[in-house]
Amino acid sequence: MRYIRIFDTTLRDGEQSPGASMNVEEKLHVARQLARLNIDVIEAGFPVASPGDFEAVRRVAEEIKGITVAGLARAKDVDIERAAEAVRPAESARIHTFLATSDIHLKYKLRMSREEVLEAAVSAVKKARGFTDDVEFSAEDATRSDRDFLCRVTEEVIKAGATTVNIPDTVGYTIPQEFGELIEYLMNRVPNIDKAVISVHCHNDLGLAVANSLTAILKGAGQVECTVNGIGERAGNAAMEEVVMALKTRPRFFNAETRIVTEEIYKTSRLVSKITGMVVQPNKAVVGANAFAHEAGIHQDGVLKERSTYEIMKPETVGIPQSKLVLGKHSGRHAFKERLKELGYELGEEELNTAFERFKRLCDQKKYIFDEDIETLVSEEVKRVPEVYSLVELKVSSGTSVKPTATVRLKVRDEVVERTEEGDGPVDASYRAIAGITETRSHLERFEIKGITGGTDALGEVMVTLKEGGHTVRGYGSDTDIIVAAAKAYVNALNKLEGRKRKPEKGI
Ligand code: KIV
Ligand code: ZN
Repeated sequence: MRYIRIFDTTLRDGEQSPGASMNVEEKLHVARQLARLNIDVIEAGFPVASPGDFEAVRRVAEEIKGITVAGLARAKDVDIERAAEAVRPAESARIHTFLATSDIHLKYKLRMSREEVLEAAVSAVKKARGFTDDVEFSAEDATRSDRDFLCRVTEEVIKAGATTVNIPDTVGYTIPQEFGELIEYLMNRVPNIDKAVISVHCHNDLGLAVANSLTAILKGAGQVECTVNGIGERAGNAAMEEVVMALKTRPRFFNAETRIVTEEIYKTSRLVSKITGMVVQPNKAVVGANAFAHEAGIHQDGVLKERSTYEIMKPETVGIPQSKLVLGKHSGRHAFKERLKELGYELGEEELNTAFERFKRLCDQKKYIFDEDIETLVSEEVKRVPEVYSLVELKVSSGTSVKPTATVRLKVRDEVVERTEEGDGPVDASYRAIAGITETRSHLERFEIKGITGGTDALGEVMVTLKEGGHTVRGYGSDTDIIVAAAKAYVNALNKLEGRKRKPEKGI
């Protein structure tokens, strides 16, 4: 079996999804989960892009052991030096430098000749090798590059010391057969190709990112770059869980395997969804709510007789929980902490205390507490952002014969402000009141609502997307009362917006 390395770029390319940016603490939470998943390489950010990105890469490099930590850098000295400094504390540090090789990028973006690009690529790799033995070079827009020029660049960067050469389909343009032929071409034409791992990095503009990545594996690629839930620039990147499960489900076809602990996949997907506020569509392969739900009578009958009739993967293989009844009103802090550990969450003392308080309040509202409830509750702690606004109280009246009205009390820094508004419904009224207090000029782009466990007492999750000027943020809130969850999500998004306005924008 060939061993395929999984390079996860959720914290870098994934974060480039509009509104999905994560703060340092959030990135650390995701990185810890990626470590449980046993990813080979975590690309933790683009250190030169902003002080926050630098700090995140540095903290991941300091904390996460047994996994390679990579920092991205353009083929420029300043980028490479910054990336080197950020990944230095890692047990295994990689510098990932990139430069476009397609004529379109050379002519319009870089204004460089092919010879100049070749020279810059070689010198970037040499510079990076001065800091670490593990250097990856990416030929940006490789799939629209001249094949022979791509071969030349690949050969020269390997000679210069690149240990991985990445062939990105930056704009999601290629199709499986064509991409397979490109990888085969490189494998046959580049004389020193065996001295480096060939990697692929596919975007999903035509919905082919996973198919292209898998075809590349068949043709000799040894590393796949992907993101959790397929999030990323524009239509996203190849979805990690789909690539991994395709290899696991069809080992003889691919004759290839990964080291991923697949039982951690579902948890990782939920965590990334909550932290980024990017909802996973119900019919999403592997991790969607319907991925293992059999609706048709004939299918249900078949599965009851023999699962393999309609199930090619077992839900437990990707760690989909069985909605176990876990804790209740009389459970203590210790039991709560232990259960969290079993679920894969290790919180600091302060986070644990707040999560436990919320758990106790939930026990008063809801008789049965399921694993999913606990996960939802904990992710509220995990995604906490510095708060300018916090919800003190919300009262609503609505129904068939009254005008929906909401009274909101918000703490704005140190002052509590109250406001009452009417609206088309209780959520609308609450949002009007919150908008009035905060005087926000943001525009509500999206409002999504979801029940976590079954039953009318289920925890509800709300995710909202707000836009103001050039900033897009996503907010998340959960509560047994869906109106309260909606208000929390709005307040969370407004806090993120405040944070974003204070922080310098990424320079890249
Ligand atoms: O899509 C792309 O080309 C990239 C590179 C930086 C690898 O993200
Ligand atoms: Zn990319």
